[in-house]
Amino acid sequence: MGRNDPDLFVPYLILFSVIVAAAANISRDQDALLSVKAHIINDNPSSRIPRDLGNSTKLKLLYLGFNNLIGNLPSSKNLIGLPNLKAVSLGLNNFSGSIPSFFFNASKLYHLELGYNSFSGLIPEALGNLRNLKRLGLLHNYLKSSTSGLMSFFSALVNCKSLKVIGLSENPLDGVLPSSIGNLSVSVEEIYMYKCNIHGRIPKEIGNLINLTTLSLGYNNLSGSLPITLGRLKKLQGLDLQNNKFEGPIPQEFCHFFRLYVVYLNRNKLSGSIPSCLGDLNSLRILSLSSNELTSVIPSTFWNLQDILGFDFSSNSLNGSLPLEIGNLKAVVDIYLSRNNLSGNIPSTIVGLKNLQHLSLEHNKLQGPIPESFGELVSLEFLDLSNNDLSGVIPASLEKLLYLKSLNLSFNKLVGEIPRGGAFANFSAESFIGNDLLCGSPYLHVPLCKSSPNKKSRKKVILLGVVLPLSTVFIVTVILALTFGLITRCRKRRSTEVSHIKADMSPQVMWRRYSPDELLRATDQFSEENLIGIGSYGSVYKGRFPDGIEVAIKVFHLQREGALNSFDAECEILKAIRHRNLVKIISSCTNHNFKGLVLEYMPNGSLEDCLYASNFNLDIFQRLGIMIDVASALEYLHFGHSNPIVHCDVKPSNVLLDDNMVAHLSDFGIAKLLSEEDSMKQTRTLATIGYMAPEYGREGQVSIKGDVYSYGIMLMEVFTGMKPTNEFFTGEMSIKRWVNDSLPAVIDIMDANLLSEDEEHANVAKQSCASSVLSLAMECTSESPENRVNTKEIISRLIKIRDLLFANIEMV
Ligand SMILES: *[C@@H]1O[C@H](CO)[C@@H](O)[C@H](O)[C@H]1NC(C)=O
Ligand SMILES: *[C@@H]1O[C@H](CO)[C@@H](O)[C@H](O)[C@H]1NC(C)=O
Ligand SMILES: *[C@@H]1O[C@H](CO)[C@@H](O)[C@H](O)[C@H]1NC(C)=O
Ligand SMILES: *[C@@H]1O[C@H](CO)[C@@H](O)[C@H](O)[C@H]1NC(C)=O
Ligand SMILES: *[C@@H]1O[C@H](CO)[C@@H](O)[C@H](O)[C@H]1NC(C)=O
Ligand SMILES: *[C@@H]1O[C@H](CO)[C@@H](O)[C@H](O)[C@H]1NC(C)=O
Ligand SMILES: *[C@@H]1O[C@H](CO)[C@@H](O)[C@H](O)[C@H]1NC(C)=O
Ligand SMILES: *[C@@H]1O[C@H](CO)[C@@H](O)[C@H](O)[C@H]1NC(C)=O
Ligand SMILES: *[C@@H]1O[C@H](CO)[C@@H](O)[C@H](O)[C@H]1NC(C)=O
Ligand SMILES: *[C@@H]1O[C@H](CO)[C@@H](O)[C@H](O)[C@H]1NC(C)=O
Ligand SMILES: *[C@@H]1O[C@H](CO)[C@@H](O)[C@H](O)[C@H]1NC(C)=O
Repeated sequence: MGRNDPDLFVPYLILFSVIVAAAANISRDQDALLSVKAHIINDNPSSRIPRDLGNSTKLKLLYLGFNNLIGNLPSSKNLIGLPNLKAVSLGLNNFSGSIPSFFFNASKLYHLELGYNSFSGLIPEALGNLRNLKRLGLLHNYLKSSTSGLMSFFSALVNCKSLKVIGLSENPLDGVLPSSIGNLSVSVEEIYMYKCNIHGRIPKEIGNLINLTTLSLGYNNLSGSLPITLGRLKKLQGLDLQNNKFEGPIPQEFCHFFRLYVVYLNRNKLSGSIPSCLGDLNSLRILSLSSNELTSVIPSTFWNLQDILGFDFSSNSLNGSLPLEIGNLKAVVDIYLSRNNLSGNIPSTIVGLKNLQHLSLEHNKLQGPIPESFGELVSLEFLDLSNNDLSGVIPASLEKLLYLKSLNLSFNKLVGEIPRGGAFANFSAESFIGNDLLCGSPYLHVPLCKSSPNKKSRKKVILLGVVLPLSTVFIVTVILALTFGLITRCRKRRSTEVSHIKADMSPQVMWRRYSPDELLRATDQFSEENLIGIGSYGSVYKGRFPDGIEVAIKVFHLQREGALNSFDAECEILKAIRHRNLVKIISSCTNHNFKGLVLEYMPNGSLEDCLYASNFNLDIFQRLGIMIDVASALEYLHFGHSNPIVHCDVKPSNVLLDDNMVAHLSDFGIAKLLSEEDSMKQTRTLATIGYMAPEYGREGQVSIKGDVYSYGIMLMEVFTGMKPTNEFFTGEMSIKRWVNDSLPAVIDIMDANLLSEDEEHANVAKQSCASSVLSLAMECTSESPENRVNTKEIISRLIKIRDLLFANIEMV
């Protein structure tokens, strides 16, 4: 598994032969037995593999995965075997019985995938005959190791000198890891053995497996201290040891994992302090240490991890206060620090964390006020500050948090009036209990506020002087939100991409795991009716899980050239970033013949769908809001990280709209991650004609300025209703020139749907707005990249334009 692979702990799935090839009859003379989704076999759910299969001497590939096959495999009696067999995928059926031994005479076999079945019996030691074996997938069966619990099959696997992946998770192995695990070939890269009832210690010999990138031993009964020899695994990217009984300190040697991306050590009995050298692991994105016995202060170096996405230190005995440096964690989305012994004030720098969605600080000893500017945490969805010693008033700025879904301020020493606006309308008394000096609405079970005339008049002055501009913005937003709620939905058209706002991100599992069975059922076996889009590299299906969650599942067509790169690029980018205006991954599945991403379903389709739907019209505020969202997404990509990300394919069909018509930029299939040194990259991947910056088309130069160009073209399209590829634009005449020739007048070029017949005054205001927007679009599309405005500037200009329009229309 390379660094590009996102699903370090999503069980390595198997076989979806869906993608692979053409349907074939089962016959004894074939080279390959492949099935597409095996409709053939599916029609008869009790299909069994024909008895004479085992005599198919020519058979090289046997892919029958992902069907409804049941029964025992033919046993080896009287079989001459399958001497030429190279790859077997029978996963995701419901085969039972023991694994027949004829497989183990297939000396050319390099891929054996039997995961997600009901195989039982022992894991055969004859596996050692498979000298060419690379991937062994036995996940999720009823296999045991040996009656003595010694896992002797490891000694057999020592003979497989090319072995890369060992997948045994979710089998009742009931044993102890033998020291012979250290005699496995150094070629081994991934070991998955979670939920296997393993007890005892991790043998120190594991340190011999120097090419290991993923080690997943979670949910077992392992105990003892963490072996320091793990520190020799310098290529490790994912380490999952959660839910075991490990004790003792986290060894300093863990700081040698320079490629470490995700670490789960939660729910053990680890003690001592968090090693300060963890702060050197720049690649770390997800760190869970919750529910251990860790003590003392969080090391100051930890706050250097400016690209970390989430950490969970809850339920330990950490003390000390939160430093101002918490503001360094610019990318962070989830912070869990509850149930510790933290004291001191909440640092005001926390309000700089614009991507923070989840902040959990409950059950500590924090003091002082809730910072006045908490309302700047624009992405915040979940805030729990309960059971601390916080004092002062609840800042009214919290009303601005449009995404806030859950709030708990209970059991503090807060005083004064409980705000009523924004999300507060939805919070009940449960959010405020145990603060004796709060006042407000009676339904919150608090006394009414005593109005003090002095205070009130002062408040009013402040209101006019300072709060007014802010609250105008706020009112605009609320009104927009209301309008969004009322509009009729765009026709649900096919869109090639889908995305997600409300990931169910529990601290332990940042990516929700789905079993292949679930994906199959959710999409009704990837049925035609659920197909919502076909893109250049993949198809997107709509899926629905039993809990009602709707998702989109993007399956990459691996036989298309470039699809693999596209998947890798998309994963690489998406796993490193999260923003409210970007597509988000819920989960992913991958193996050598299946690559898929699970994304949240976007009910309103793409901006392109909405712009050209005949029965639907986006009004001018919606268009401004969407373009501000897209600019915010681009600002985050361009400036939110140490390494800028260039999207490379900004266009209306890649902008998806959620329930609330909030825009989410999607499709990172050709996005590029720039390194710190170069601000531009040469590439040969082609973006979309019409939106592509000239330097990109001519010389393949990729830079953030290229995204700004495409954005500018999109602004023109959104406000004129003309596609840049319209046949009207030929030869010298481009959309850019057409707009430029008309400006500052726009009456002939702006989308007539934006104007209404009987509102002359409003129409004047709208024309002036469109004129400003289109002038901005011209500045985005300067021929020379240096002269183009940047996204920060775009956002502030568009917000001003929107405020002005709002004020002008209101004046009537
Ligand atoms: C099996 O092959 C035969 C002859 O090649 C063909 O007529 C038949 O349709 C095939 N069966 C299925 C289920 O594809
Ligand atoms: C497989 O081939 C062997 C040797 O030719 C024969 O004895 C046996 O009956 C065959 N088995 C089946 C199931 O056809
Ligand atoms: C498989 O190989 C073993 C020896 O390794 C041999 O005894 C057995 O007969 C072979 N089985 C088949 C079905 O060829
Ligand atoms: C699979 O087979 C086993 C026994 O062979 C049976 O108990 C189980 O219910 C089956 N599972 C499914 C999903 O059909
Ligand atoms: C592992 O290899 C070492 C050295 O080659 C050998 O001494 C030892 O017996 C082997 N251990 C096992 C359990 O096979
Ligand atoms: C594993 O590590 C060794 C030693 O660093 C190296 O020679 C080898 O190429 C690596 N990769 C594989 C697949 O064995
Ligand atoms: C772990 O071991 C304890 C006894 O030490 C046992 O009660 C428990 O069931 C085991 N848990 C698992 C998941 O095997
Ligand atoms: C917190 O610190 C106090 C002493 O200041 C100690 O008595 C208490 O046990 C600590 N609580 C936790 C959860 O560590
Ligand atoms: C934190 O706890 C440790 C013991 O775990 C203690 O030595 C240290 O003084 C405490 N520090 C603070 C700032 O409370
Ligand atoms: C209140 O909750 C309802 C239902 O959960 C939701 O639709 C609505 O948007 C929420 N209102 C606010 C202001 O958050
Ligand atoms: C807030 O926390 C308190 C105490 O932990 C709890 O009783 C209350 O139900 C929580 N409120 C909400 C809204 O979750």
